[in-house]
Amino acid sequence: MRLLAIETSCDETAVTVLDGYGPVSAVSYAVLGNALYSQAEKHAVYGGVHPSLAKREHARNIVPLLSAALREAGLEHANPCELSPEQTAWLSSLLAHEPDLAYMLLHYLQQIERPAVDAVAVTHGPGLEPALWVGVNCARALAYVWNLPIIPVNHLEGHLVASSVSPHETLAGHYTLREVRFPALGLILSGGHTEFVLMQGWGAYEVVGATRDDSMGEAYDKVARLLGLPYPGGPGISRLAAWSREVSPTGDAPTALIGPLPRPMIDTDDLDFSFSGLKTAVLYRTRPLELTDETRAHVAAAFEEAATDVVITKTARALERFPAATFILGGGVSANTYLRARLATLMEQQGLDLHCYVPAMGLSTDNAVMIGMAGYLAHLREEPKRCASDVLRADGGLSIAPPNAE
Ligand code: KG4
Ligand code: ZN
Repeated sequence: MRLLAIETSCDETAVTVLDGYGPVSAVSYAVLGNALYSQAEKHAVYGGVHPSLAKREHARNIVPLLSAALREAGLEHANPCELSPEQTAWLSSLLAHEPDLAYMLLHYLQQIERPAVDAVAVTHGPGLEPALWVGVNCARALAYVWNLPIIPVNHLEGHLVASSVSPHETLAGHYTLREVRFPALGLILSGGHTEFVLMQGWGAYEVVGATRDDSMGEAYDKVARLLGLPYPGGPGISRLAAWSREVSPTGDAPTALIGPLPRPMIDTDDLDFSFSGLKTAVLYRTRPLELTDETRAHVAAAFEEAATDVVITKTARALERFPAATFILGGGVSANTYLRARLATLMEQQGLDLHCYVPAMGLSTDNAVMIGMAGYLAHLREEPKRCASDVLRADGGLSIAPPNAE
């Protein structure tokens, strides 16, 4: 099955063409074309993602990305064709709130012939609603003109699937879905989410722990901002912290500088998190300091150590409570090398007979490859597909678990 996949939930606009093969017990994928544009630099001045700017940028960039992905897949063939007045009217009304997108898409659709794809997979949540609507409406427009079914994909499921495929250095090429033995425990750490997901199978999820305030990625981004590092903050904090650990392997220098930081909720008998107190502690302890490369690095290390301690302790607790056969770490923060190392140590120490999957670096942060992959699994589950005239809503607060399972 050939899928055209679209991702616009946050600040990455991404389009992928991907083939999915096989039954759920032996799934493989071939990525034929992939195009991604990160708006991160545009949001840097705000220290985080600005929703209406994100929406505008998605609307401006999605058609060129669609064209690039189709071209790379060898599926973009010029063939001028007129849209009928009904089609033009339908599309104009669908895209009334995205005039840039309407203009570019109408023009593009009249230049190329219908590509050989079987369905459009699109992220419909969770994420920033104005941003999500761009992808959803673009998917509906393509489905309408090309007469394709739509497969709505949950962004968080996309992260879990991306972690479960055989690692690959680049986003292009072939992937196989590794053996995921169930029950599995997923941990999603991203800019918008921090949650444990108990998985009884692909598509059968229950959220068993979540953050009560900031997500882990948000904490990284906020601490980065107060240290004067660019958005997104994760990579910068991670680099500085690694340098601090090199010069102070025991962590004495960070502790001498700002004292031990709190590990919020580390001892609570649940699987929930809270990161906002940690961020505030970093704020107060950093205020009196003169920020130099060295002090920044030690603060970054102290923060990373505290946040990672909490995640590792809670992961150990979660695996005690829910003896799982597979552990899957997903989301942008899973790119963090220190967290990966600590997780590997935990698995080793516990001596668990457990598959532990983390994503290939290129698949950790947002992309459309993961949306196509999850879309193919949804197709295998025979979840109802949508058509263009169905009102597929973007849902910023969409849960990975159906309401009755929570
Ligand atoms: O999954 P993602 O790309 O977007 C959302 O779905 O939110 O996650 C983005 C988050 C950002 O907060 C970013 O700072 C964080 O992932 N991140 C990292 C690293 N790379 C990205 N956090 C820690 N260490 C990293 N190396
Ligand atoms: Zn994400």
